[in-house]
Amino acid sequence: MNIIKNLFKGNMNEEIGEYIIKNDHNLTISILELGGIITSIKIPKNNEIIDIVLGFDNYDNYFGKHPYFGAIIGRYANRIGNGTFCLEGKKYELKRNNGKNHLHGGIKGFDKVIWESETIIKKNEAQIILKYLSKDGEEGYPGNLQVYVTYTLTNNNELRISYKGETDKPTVVNLTNHSYFNLNGEGEADILGHFLTINGDYYTVVDENLIPTGEIKKIEGTALDFRKREKIGRRIKEAGGYDHNYVLNKTREELSLGAIAEGDKSGIIMEVYTTEPGLQFYTGNFLDGTLKGKKGNFYNKHYGFCLETQHFPDSPNKPEFPGVILLPGEVYTEETVYKFKWN
Ligand code: GLA
Repeated sequence: MNIIKNLFKGNMNEEIGEYIIKNDHNLTISILELGGIITSIKIPKNNEIIDIVLGFDNYDNYFGKHPYFGAIIGRYANRIGNGTFCLEGKKYELKRNNGKNHLHGGIKGFDKVIWESETIIKKNEAQIILKYLSKDGEEGYPGNLQVYVTYTLTNNNELRISYKGETDKPTVVNLTNHSYFNLNGEGEADILGHFLTINGDYYTVVDENLIPTGEIKKIEGTALDFRKREKIGRRIKEAGGYDHNYVLNKTREELSLGAIAEGDKSGIIMEVYTTEPGLQFYTGNFLDGTLKGKKGNFYNKHYGFCLETQHFPDSPNKPEFPGVILLPGEVYTEETVYKFKWN
């Protein structure tokens, strides 16, 4: 196990860290203190290095406009309808950055802030521990929220992402990571030939603004059915591109298998385990070929997919969904593991 730290300059000339972690099988992951962004996941396969996440070659581009490449999302991942919610009888107004809705933590979410960091190396794993204090009132949210996100790379070829949070006032929390994967290698082509299995029988129905109506429906008989290994592209047109929250099959808040994806050309497999109740499957529908990614490649529609483990969208306004309220004295903890397999 090995960790290297590089420094680069931010907008205000401040020094920001980039970590490169490598395990004993040469699986190499790069992470920035900016937004906790995963900038690369490099898999050594047949004397080739395959980078399986979308992003940029240049640090500067991560400060510009991009669709949350690789970033930590918070304080609330996904959408909150009308950017408002009530908590203990008080109404909170959040920043609206997606039409009239609040998306991915607002205008300056956890994806755009600089995190403090420390590292731990053990025999079979190496960790980057990121820390951020989200102040009371930030983007409209109540309470000072102290957040820790730990990225652990193991010699079992797992990337474990552990989330922890504590608040001094009642608040809502829902954290995720927004990596765009292309298991055949980023920038090469779209992900429509990939195979996918999702361990979810139900999804949350949404309105035209992607806000859940509250209804939870069976995926059986629809283009959302990935209960059996299926090509992503098979029914994607019918689905209008995937941007759906699956209700994962589980009875308790335990780490369980959420999804398995497989690059049809590379044979690289990624298993996703999570403690979360939901999984947003997003197929990069808003990528439109204007973003120049690594090696000068333009990212077209469906060039990457996200498997965002999360609580359901708009849960602060849906008391019937699993709860997202964090009270003082409680500790928010969630974990997601991406396990990579190749030969
Ligand atoms: C999430 C949302 C999508 C889109 C992307 C970012 O996955 O569900 O609708 O907003 O983030 O482009």
